[in-house]
Amino acid sequence: MLSQLESQYKEALQALEAITDSEALHDWEVKTLGRKGAITELLRSTGKLPPEERASFGKRANEIKNLLAEAYAQREALVHQQELAYDLEAGQIDISLPGRTLTVGGLHPSTQTLRLYAHVWAEMGFQVYRSRDVETDDYNFQMLNFPPHHPAREMQDTFYTDKPDVILRTQTSPGQIRAMLELGEGGTKPIRVIVPGMCYRHEQITSRSEIQFHQVEGLAIGRNIHMTDLKGTVAEFARRMYGDDAKVRFRASYFPFTEPSMEIDVECFLCGGEGCRVCKYTGWLEISGAGMVHPNVLRNGGYDPSVWSGFAFGMGPERATMLKHGITDIRYFWGNDLRVLEQF
Ligand code: DAH
Repeated sequence: MLSQLESQYKEALQALEAITDSEALHDWEVKTLGRKGAITELLRSTGKLPPEERASFGKRANEIKNLLAEAYAQREALVHQQELAYDLEAGQIDISLPGRTLTVGGLHPSTQTLRLYAHVWAEMGFQVYRSRDVETDDYNFQMLNFPPHHPAREMQDTFYTDKPDVILRTQTSPGQIRAMLELGEGGTKPIRVIVPGMCYRHEQITSRSEIQFHQVEGLAIGRNIHMTDLKGTVAEFARRMYGDDAKVRFRASYFPFTEPSMEIDVECFLCGGEGCRVCKYTGWLEISGAGMVHPNVLRNGGYDPSVWSGFAFGMGPERATMLKHGITDIRYFWGNDLRVLEQF
């Protein structure tokens, strides 16, 4: 069998050297080195030899296999070069044609904004805390001090599942409770986190409202946190996002989980406060809901409200992205239209 192997080797080498086109080259490879090729078959029959011959035969067969593979690679490079030279000479390749452009993927505009937010908040000491998209009624509402018949619980707002208690979160605020319970070590540790993520609401889809959208929740818990901290922190965020002379204002508002609650506006960066279509001629753009964490919420997170206090905020990155790029319809975000997405 050894002599058979050697003659196969010689034959295969000779055949290879005579090959001048890539098709024949491919056939040669299948016939010689392929899974059913001559050399492979011989290797496979090693077991039929008397035991004392197996080792030396196997060794030589493997050697030959490697030599042939090497010879093949060399021949392939040569044939390829010759074919290319031929095509060029015959004018089959027009080297003056422009190259094919590769399509390169990009980041979704929302992802870009989320990353920017995370970056700016990280510089100010806020870690990213990931909470879950699938929530319970308890975390999404009850523990956030939503009264039992709050309208946000109703069918038209919340996506319910087959399990009565399991819903898709309508806001990132339940992340506040989870962060306090997970990071607070029984209400003994301060916290500074943002909770970015997707939220879901059973809404009529229009140019201004979608059934899914992102929020970036913020939470700071400590022993001496006051409303001035909230105001200063958000004003600093606005400066880092919109430039050193960005002005903010705070309007009284209501959320069940904060007391007092407020809405935060930044001076319209398009018209500089003069009034334009984007800011609906008010000179201001709403960037966040916010407030001081309600004592009931602190308690539900394991903190004693007579010792600990905190502030929270909730921002909408899609809205910020729309303002920044002049996107007029929120449906573009999840419409999967590459003509839109490729612009970012
Ligand atoms: N969860 C609120 C919403 O979906 C936004 C919000 C407002 C979050 C005030 C907060 C906050 O943390 O303090 O409308």
